[in-house]
Amino acid sequence: MSAAITPSRGANYARILSVAGYRPERVVTNDELCERIDSSDEWIRERSGIIERRYAAPDESVADMAVNAAGQALERAGVDPSRVGLVMLATVTHPFPTPSAAADVAHRIGATTAAAIDLSAACAGFCYGIEFGSSVIRSGGAEYVVLVGVEKLSDWIDPDDRGTAFLFADGAGAVVLGPSDEPAIGPVVWGSDGSQLEAITMTQSLIDYKLVGGEIFPALEMQGQQVFRWAVGEMAKKAAEALDAAAVSADDLDAFIPHQANMRITDAMVRALKLPEHVPVARDIAHTGNTSAASIPLAMQAMLDAGEIPHGGTALVIGFGAGLVYAAQVVTLP
Ligand code: UT7
Repeated sequence: MSAAITPSRGANYARILSVAGYRPERVVTNDELCERIDSSDEWIRERSGIIERRYAAPDESVADMAVNAAGQALERAGVDPSRVGLVMLATVTHPFPTPSAAADVAHRIGATTAAAIDLSAACAGFCYGIEFGSSVIRSGGAEYVVLVGVEKLSDWIDPDDRGTAFLFADGAGAVVLGPSDEPAIGPVVWGSDGSQLEAITMTQSLIDYKLVGGEIFPALEMQGQQVFRWAVGEMAKKAAEALDAAAVSADDLDAFIPHQANMRITDAMVRALKLPEHVPVARDIAHTGNTSAASIPLAMQAMLDAGEIPHGGTALVIGFGAGLVYAAQVVTLP
């Protein structure tokens, strides 16, 4: 007979305790990018809603940006780093397959005994992380979790590719997750569609680059229209499913914070969801660009800090991107 094993047991519920953001100093205008691509400020604003974006400095790493955002988030939550049991970095732009950026970040923020892991789910990474983090808190694997969505996409775009160069940018958004007496994170609606693997991919693998080489270091490559159609057609349905799963109506929302992929995708989702006019919608993409896993926490931080949405209010979040993968849930704002 097998020995009796004590089951793991954690908090009844989990919640987001704080959010913080880090936006690199350098502002990159559309005009600057148009020195390399056949485009215009007008076209970029009209087709994506992007006015400007931020790029990290050459010597500023994914981990550096994450440390900044995570440190602020811990301070805002009033949580001592020694009580953090898990540090998760949602990122696809850390340039080392191993070791993880999360282990470095955990050490540098003082979470010296925390488990640490990088999570690769592209623009859905933050929402994937919310599900993993809250599950770990409820299972007893950690009392507090630091989750950072962080990207340095400027390292992985081809500045001469007019399909991607104007879209992607750099930044970090972090949350601290912790125990809660009441439900504050709704059921996740998530999934993947690997049949559309090629919709957002790399021009070649790092191994092919090593063996064969090429003029361009591996860069992001996107079938923009294909992703656009999928996002507009399918993602509003998933967002509506997340509302249903949490038994929250669109009318009850205090914020809609979708991944900042393209302003026109956000507009289309708002229409498809029949979102009431009183619900504030994240439009952080205008000055931040598409920062993949960082875009939702950055937008959340900006709206809260500007007083556009209430602390303790109810928000619908949805991330979607390369894979293709997606995740949506209703959360109580920190
Ligand atoms: O975050 C991860 C998920 N990613 C996304 O959700 C991104 C989804 N896709 C998009 O946001 C859009 O597809 C883009 C913003 C990338 C492109 O916008 P679009 O409206 O889909 O443009 P398009 O590819 O349909 O091109 C329309 C026209 C074409 O010209 P013709 O054939 O109509 O004469 C393109 O050649 O615009 C042209 N074009 C450009 N013109 C100026 C394409 N890119 C550019 C450009 N500047 N950068």
